[in-house]
Amino acid sequence: MYQKRIIKSCPLKLLAVITFMALAYTAISYIHQDSAASPDDLEDDYAYSWQSSQEKIGVLERRLTRASKSLERLWCATRDVMSNGGFCVTADRIYTGGNIIFEPELCYFVEELVGNASVADFGAGLGKYGMCLLRKNQTNFQLSEKQKKEYIADMQATLQSIKKTPKVVYSWHGFDGGIAIEEVSGGFISHADLSEEGLWLGRKWDWVMSIEVGEHIPRNSEDYFLDNLARHACQGIQRVLVSVTY
Ligand SMILES: *[C@@H]1O[C@H](CO)[C@@H](O)[C@H](O)[C@H]1NC(C)=O
Ligand SMILES: *[C@@H]1O[C@H](CO)[C@@H](O)[C@H](O)[C@H]1NC(C)=O
Repeated sequence: MYQKRIIKSCPLKLLAVITFMALAYTAISYIHQDSAASPDDLEDDYAYSWQSSQEKIGVLERRLTRASKSLERLWCATRDVMSNGGFCVTADRIYTGGNIIFEPELCYFVEELVGNASVADFGAGLGKYGMCLLRKNQTNFQLSEKQKKEYIADMQATLQSIKKTPKVVYSWHGFDGGIAIEEVSGGFISHADLSEEGLWLGRKWDWVMSIEVGEHIPRNSEDYFLDNLARHACQGIQRVLVSVTY
């Protein structure tokens, strides 16, 4: 079992190494070629070299972003999960890894627990708890025709069971590490890499909820993840609701 897993992951590692080597090579040859083309008379001009290094950095950053996106697509194609544990959600396919699961009772438990509070949902998935907490009956998901049909049927089944009473929480903001989640959800859920060290989303919330997320975070990022939850909760760690299954 263990050996099988190693063998399975080898082509992925090899591809990752090849991608990064190719990136490093293009970066080096780019810098080399560009500096050779710089006019001699401007070489001492500080403003010029500052601007040209900014441009080079910009180009390299864009290449790095493209390379890391390709890597994530590779993870999605081979393992159906991203390197940070995020789900591979696209306009053609949003249901993966059990993210269809929603328990209305858990939604009512959260609102009873937090009351009129601002809530951030870390690892919001498809945002169903947000829709329940906000008593929202539709979102602006951007989906392919086939996936749209399935989503509408799912939402009809899900929303039928949601209470008709007014919402209890003051506000809800959903964040998720899923690939393309922001575009796919039409902005209802924002992208955030919850496994990133020192993540800061620009504000705190009264409560941070995180349901069925911790078990997907890579082991060496678990501390970052827990710090990220605590950093965004107003009243400290006791206001963080974490659930880990398995
Ligand atoms: C809920 O909380 C907000 C923000 O703290 C406050 O402005 C509002 O008056 C509260 N509403 C109720 C019904 O307590
Ligand atoms: C959502 O709720 C509003 C008002 O509560 C209603 O007019 C609308 O038809 C509902 N939409 C769906 C898709 O259920």
